[in-house]
Amino acid sequence: MKFFFRVLLLFTLIIGFQYNSYAAEKVEYLKTDWSFKGLFGKFDRGALQRGYQVYTEVCSSCHSMKYLSYRNLAEKGGPEFSEEQAKAIAASFEVKDGPNEDGEMFNRPGKLSDKFVMPYENIKAAQAANGGAYPPDMSVLVKARGGGVDYIYSLLQGYEDPPAGITLDDGVYYNKYMYGNKIKMANQLSDGLVTYGDGTNATVQQMSKDVTTFLMWAAEPHLESRHKMGFKAITYLIILTILVYFSMKKIWSRIETEV
Ligand code: HEC
Repeated sequence: MKFFFRVLLLFTLIIGFQYNSYAAEKVEYLKTDWSFKGLFGKFDRGALQRGYQVYTEVCSSCHSMKYLSYRNLAEKGGPEFSEEQAKAIAASFEVKDGPNEDGEMFNRPGKLSDKFVMPYENIKAAQAANGGAYPPDMSVLVKARGGGVDYIYSLLQGYEDPPAGITLDDGVYYNKYMYGNKIKMANQLSDGLVTYGDGTNATVQQMSKDVTTFLMWAAEPHLESRHKMGFKAITYLIILTILVYFSMKKIWSRIETEV
């Protein structure tokens, strides 16, 4: 038995060390305080609204968000634009509809029920316009990348001149956080690129944080209600545990113990 435990301990140590050195090789992502992390985490409405602005004004010319509808922008737990604001946002886009009685497609202003308009007709067109690289759909991108929000937040700020000895092809850029360091998306952000309606200073860091918060909500629109449920469930379990403990005491108190 003793032998068995020694072998087990040895294995644990070996695996532990290997995991440790594996973790040490990875780049450290930039850290920031996300308001939505933790048991009580909530989205910061301001950040979501600003993040939507960055998405629309900057990212949406290449990246689609095909699972989002304009009505989602007014829903609870999201950016919570008012219904009027969301309607105005939708109406500012042209949506292809039809066919009409003449069998022709036509453009009309967007409605709340429309999905976010796509920048390209299809994946091939998107690739053709971006040197062969497809700008991935952003609806659930946060979930599709290891590192999640910290990765995207860092990637947006990770552009650097390539180290000496590395030459890049046309249309390829050096990014500290991209897998393999080569990315076919140019740096998109620069200080003051957007003008925030609420007066927040649009630094690269601020825009990265805001747009990443927006992408997190898009991938997990029910995060807030999930956190609320989790909290309720835990409170319930704690109360239940206390009740069970006292009823157990009461029941067993009738039995004489000798110890
Ligand atoms: C001019 C077009 C263009 C714009 C604008 C653009 N992107 Fe991209 N993006 C791309 C392309 C192309 C890729 C694919 C790059 C590759 O695979 O090397 C990409 C990839 C990405 C990725 C995925 C990287 C990975 O791990 O595969 C993220 C995240 C991203 N973009 C975020 C953004 C954000 C946020 C914005 C807005 C601030 C934005 N992009 C604006 C073209 C664009």
